[in-house]
Amino acid sequence: MSAVTAASAAYIVAGLLFILSLAGLSKHETAKTGNVYGMAGMAIALVATVGLAASRDISALGAVLLVAAVLVGAVIGLWRARRVEMTGMPELIAMLHSFVGAAAVLVGWNGYLSVEARADEQTEVAGDLLGIHSAEVVIGVFIGAVTVTGSIVAFLKLSGRIKSNPLMLPAHNMLNLGALVAFVVLTVLFVIDPSLPLLIAVTVLALALGWHLVASIGGGDMPVVVSMLNSYSGWAAAASGFLLGNDLLILTGALVGSSGAYLSYIMCTAMNRSFLSVIAGGFGNEGAAAVDRDYGEHTEVSADQVADLLADARTVVITPGYGMAVAQAQGAVAELVRHLTDRGTDVRFGIHPVAGRLPGHMNVLLAEAKVPYDIVLEMDEINDDLAGTDVVLVIGANDTVNPAATDDPTSPIAGMPVLKVWEADQVIVFKRSMSTGYAGVQNPLFFRDNSRMLFGDARERVEDILVALPKPDRTTVGHGRQD
Ligand code: TAP
Repeated sequence: MSAVTAASAAYIVAGLLFILSLAGLSKHETAKTGNVYGMAGMAIALVATVGLAASRDISALGAVLLVAAVLVGAVIGLWRARRVEMTGMPELIAMLHSFVGAAAVLVGWNGYLSVEARADEQTEVAGDLLGIHSAEVVIGVFIGAVTVTGSIVAFLKLSGRIKSNPLMLPAHNMLNLGALVAFVVLTVLFVIDPSLPLLIAVTVLALALGWHLVASIGGGDMPVVVSMLNSYSGWAAAASGFLLGNDLLILTGALVGSSGAYLSYIMCTAMNRSFLSVIAGGFGNEGAAAVDRDYGEHTEVSADQVADLLADARTVVITPGYGMAVAQAQGAVAELVRHLTDRGTDVRFGIHPVAGRLPGHMNVLLAEAKVPYDIVLEMDEINDDLAGTDVVLVIGANDTVNPAATDDPTSPIAGMPVLKVWEADQVIVFKRSMSTGYAGVQNPLFFRDNSRMLFGDARERVEDILVALPKPDRTTVGHGRQD
């Protein structure tokens, strides 16, 4: 069997493993197996690619560079993945997408330097095929460069190194549209007569567009941006696959591109955002700004008072958010749930689709703390029950429980579905100060008559409540309220 046939067979196996991996990752129970399939597929793909290169009279220097690059990449990847906190995952993912984009740009440039730039010499690509090759070069470079700067801006916003507010340049939609038109014109010119200045122009244009597209998107929409960049990086990889004539890269790129686009679509639906508006860099978002309003006074409460309140409650709903992850409070929260359940209180969780900093963030933390799956409900499953709930504990959540999203059409997060915690009898908000959440908007919930603020680190406050909570009285277990 020739090396090419062996590599093609290995690529088919790897492609199937990637499909199985995606299927596995779509459910809690099968996610681990999905990961294993993905790792196995990637290992097979790497071995097959290196084997293929070795069979093609690779130079000694080429072989050394290849092995060195794989080793350096593997070491950095392992180091980062072992150190990253759950809260830092979206930043890491955004950074990794920028590498995929950069690789696509380099592959495109390499394609140009080895074919179009040597058009006078005899190269493998000539005649009509040269036009197709040139189009592949320019499209690959364009998608790759948009992904590079878009991902870097997403990384900077997510890690708080730059403000998450949307940048609203005058006529920003026209700028994006103009850039797309310029790209089409440059592509046509490049296919007719490929030249270095045209390729440089496309690269610079795409870098600027990527930066502007993501800079124009506000903090609240960042989850969608991360999955959208995931999709862009997939299409960039597929474009590289065409250039390199590598079927596996085309297949994998298409899988990543389409699954990322679909995930972005699902998230947009969950957040009531227009998909087109988000992928077009805030198109239609005319920059609703957070207005400083006087919402009145907030009321504080102590951990002891919350313990008394919980001791009397029949039904409790906990809505966790990013602050629970920061405080690493999930273990203490799980202990509180066991305690209350032992007292006969009905305790459930309400999880907003974008609570935390990545999809499923809260579910992973609660699973880690061994909270049973059946009491962890999604926003749509619990929202109607909140009106009949005695106490809601908002633990480190802010934007996801903001009534302004439903009540105030001028709010930057207007229209985003939220957990209607304010409909409960009592709401206790755990946070360290009155500062805003990720989207940078004040939360009128904190000033409502039935809301109380429990300030401090969420983990410490939950532990204080655990200490103060009366031990279950066996004669009243099963009733919750001790009237
Ligand atoms: P946020 O709105 O970000 O609010 C988190 C709150 O936690 C803050 O108000 C903060 O207040 C509090 N906090 C931080 N550390 C704490 C600690 N140690 N102890 C107690 N409280 C602490 O969180 P959310 O409600 O989960 O909403 C998520 C936001 O992130 C949304 O805007 C969403 O769009 C965005 N986002 C989500 C994702 C995904 S996919 N989930 C990705 C990127 C962005 P203090 O500072 O006063 O303590």
